[in-house]
Amino acid sequence: MRFVQEPFSDENLAFFREMDKTKKTVILGIESSCDDTSAAVICNGLLLSNVTATQYVHEKYGGVVPEMASRAHEQNIIPVVHEAIAASGIDKNAIDAIAFTRGPGLMGSLLVGTSFAKGLSLSLGVPLIDVNHLQGHILAHFIDEPDTDTPHPKFPFLCLLVSGGNSQIVLVKAYNDMEIIGQTIDDAAGEAIDKCAKVMGLGYPGGPIIDKLARQGNPEAFVFSKPNIAGYNYSFSGLKTSFLYTLRDLTKENPCFIEEHKADLAASIEYSVVSILMKKLKKAAKDLGIKEIAIAGGVSANNGLRAACREAAAKYHWNLYIPKFSYTTDNAAMIAMAGYYKYLDRAFCDISLPPYSKVTFDR
Ligand code: KG4
Repeated sequence: MRFVQEPFSDENLAFFREMDKTKKTVILGIESSCDDTSAAVICNGLLLSNVTATQYVHEKYGGVVPEMASRAHEQNIIPVVHEAIAASGIDKNAIDAIAFTRGPGLMGSLLVGTSFAKGLSLSLGVPLIDVNHLQGHILAHFIDEPDTDTPHPKFPFLCLLVSGGNSQIVLVKAYNDMEIIGQTIDDAAGEAIDKCAKVMGLGYPGGPIIDKLARQGNPEAFVFSKPNIAGYNYSFSGLKTSFLYTLRDLTKENPCFIEEHKADLAASIEYSVVSILMKKLKKAAKDLGIKEIAIAGGVSANNGLRAACREAAAKYHWNLYIPKFSYTTDNAAMIAMAGYYKYLDRAFCDISLPPYSKVTFDR
């Protein structure tokens, strides 16, 4: 997949860039791909506001219920956007463009944010910018916050993008030029962790619970099968099955096994996932000779993964970029940021553009 889009000639773009240097560009970002309704305002890359309404309605079902997510987005979207604009201190008429998550994600959820963004762009008379959610996660590394000096990765860099729906190694050549060089051929890392947590009877989402438990357990207490996949691709379905069978056998002998070994099981599954992720990331960094390394997505909040990255950074002299916890989960700040860089390239979209639930190679 490539995110390249060049609708204007080089001369025109150069003209616009010169113009942009002399003015403030305000982007409103809207994110509604899963179960968080979020809106953010960014001015020339500086974050002015970021408001997120998290949907707790799904907790008791052990996963996101798509129909409930869409309904909750419908309820949340107006107050969230209103609050984001109010908190930014700007007038809504100062907005230059509206960036929205077009996909991938849950179709019903995406439709709410997409339709709202279209309606608002029509009423304000400003252009629309469609953002790939995954590109947003990566460009979260470029968000500037008032009074903080956050270092940004230098191009080209490698980004390990790990979430509930994706596990990818992305070669980031420029803000709008990215190439997936490796990805999961079945389950995502977050999905595998969440399923293992579910088998253990832990809550949803399982990732943060496993993370917390793992800090008190022995990562080498249990060994699960590891995939043997060529190149930089990942696979997590075998690990999930291996975990399931191990627990099935052990609970047959001792029905209290899970309760008695919760921390060791969590530490061991986390260790397995992190080892799989790190092996390919190290290989890609070595093969491509890249030392600028970033991580992004929900699973990048994991303490075991962060520690493994820091260890590798010290060993291989990487410049490592780990996002703030608030930018690991879904948020509109990253969508507004990605929108800003598309705005600079005048990569606007037509109002007829529909959302998409899955990533394809032309988006
Ligand atoms: O990026 P994200 O918020 O949503 C998408 O999938 O787009 O990622 C959610 C995933 C879930 O699988 C969740 O369990 C996982 O990120 N996650 C974690 C942690 N925090 C969230 N996994 C491991 N350790 C964590 N601390």
